[in-house]
Amino acid sequence: MKNLKIALVGDTGSGTDETVPDYRNEAPNRDGFVVAWPPQRYWKSASEDDLSAEKPLHLYFHIPFCLQRCRYCFFKIEILSESSHAVRERYVNALCREIEQVADAHRLRGRVVKSIYFGGGTPSVIQPEQLARIKTTIEACFRLDEPEFVFEIEPITLNNRMIDGLADLGVNRISFGIQSFDDRVVALTGRHDTDEKNSRAIERALKTGAVVNIDLLSGLEGETTESWQHSINRAIGLGVHAVTVYKLELYSNAHYMSDIRQGKLSLPGVDEEIAFARWGLARLRDSGYLPSTYFTFTREGKYPQRHIISRWRGEDMYGFGASAFGTVSGYSRQNLSEIDAYLARVESGLSPTQRVLELSSADHMLRDVVMGLKTTMIDLGEYRRRHGMRLDVVLAEELAHLVHEGLIDHNGDLLRLTDEGVLYGDYCGRYLGAGLRRAFSGDTRPLRA
Ligand SMILES: C[S@@+](CC[C@H](N)C(=O)[O-])C[C@H]1O[C@@H](n2cnc3c(N)ncnc32)[C@H](O)[C@@H]1O
Ligand code: SF4
Repeated sequence: MKNLKIALVGDTGSGTDETVPDYRNEAPNRDGFVVAWPPQRYWKSASEDDLSAEKPLHLYFHIPFCLQRCRYCFFKIEILSESSHAVRERYVNALCREIEQVADAHRLRGRVVKSIYFGGGTPSVIQPEQLARIKTTIEACFRLDEPEFVFEIEPITLNNRMIDGLADLGVNRISFGIQSFDDRVVALTGRHDTDEKNSRAIERALKTGAVVNIDLLSGLEGETTESWQHSINRAIGLGVHAVTVYKLELYSNAHYMSDIRQGKLSLPGVDEEIAFARWGLARLRDSGYLPSTYFTFTREGKYPQRHIISRWRGEDMYGFGASAFGTVSGYSRQNLSEIDAYLARVESGLSPTQRVLELSSADHMLRDVVMGLKTTMIDLGEYRRRHGMRLDVVLAEELAHLVHEGLIDHNGDLLRLTDEGVLYGDYCGRYLGAGLRRAFSGDTRPLRA
């Protein structure tokens, strides 16, 4: 096992590079009363303002309703034809009530909010008036500090009322689920969007002045090199600010899975899928879209997604709604995932929390590696200041391996995924995380979901 001590920065926790005192040759004695650790001489002067500085908070709202269940999708959703307007109204009321409950129960009332994210499901199936009520409740409970306000939309659901409503509410980042610009590929997914409808919706969104992201999905049924390249080129041609390229994940509750089991469906293979992704990343880079995370590429590397990056860097984020999850003040927690169960708890004035984990110091250190690398880089100096640990020393072997494989660049205090590493972002995070876990010895929890 590695000697962790050599990698700790001093033994003061002060972040200075001092020689570690060696007490191993000292005989037991009763001298030297320990007053405080680290000793006060390492404490910094600070103003009252610094001490009371509030940590930023990010809010996520889950809207679990959709027009249809797309054949590839595994998210827990209810389709509109099977849920009534009354249920959605109850859900919106429950979200407002949960905000009020959480603000007090978790002492978050008055905290400064830096980002708001409406994800799903399909948030754009909720009426603008309902969204306005949620926003009013947020404003009553928290202090909004020019937040990034993100809203996910399926293009076919966008109408004039919605676009005006979103602008009035201060939505400044719109994320469209596009998946493909090839109408044949889209039709096979069970969606009713078309290239024409998608393009019209994107142009309308761009006119509002919001930052516009589009999601593409690599590995869909019927995808060919030609259709994939068309989608990437179309995304670039539309001049959106950001393009997110997800790799298709298969889960047992997706229609795709039952079709595959019955031998009715075969999807692009692993080699084909990675060839799509590699071509897409190269084409995006050549067109000035640089990785902001390992799956989102933004024009000239600008327009970073504050919500997701802050969350991966460990800032507090609270998730509201059925199945929503987040981490606040060192606790990760997730709500009940069934809509009925969620509604019943909130409507009775009870917490809808299903599970909680208090993060240990080791969890924080691991989280900052595994999730941090999703942002494509880890600042070793910042890591040292936060955790008092020389990651480059503790993970020397693992880093040397990933550098040798051409997946990571290690330059001074910066670890950065290479272009090839971007294709294997979570693998690199897990690889380093596993090394850190070995150094901690004993933590055997798998790093996969
Ligand atoms: C909540 S949805 C976006 C909004 C809206 N529901 C829509 O689809 O237009 C977020 C994204 O998840 C991605 N997604 C859905 N199913 C996926 C799967 N099986 N594997 C990977 N990504 C998936 C899609 O790219 C989708 O745009
Ligand atoms: S991809 Fe989007 S619209 Fe389709 S089922 Fe999943 S969340 Fe709903």
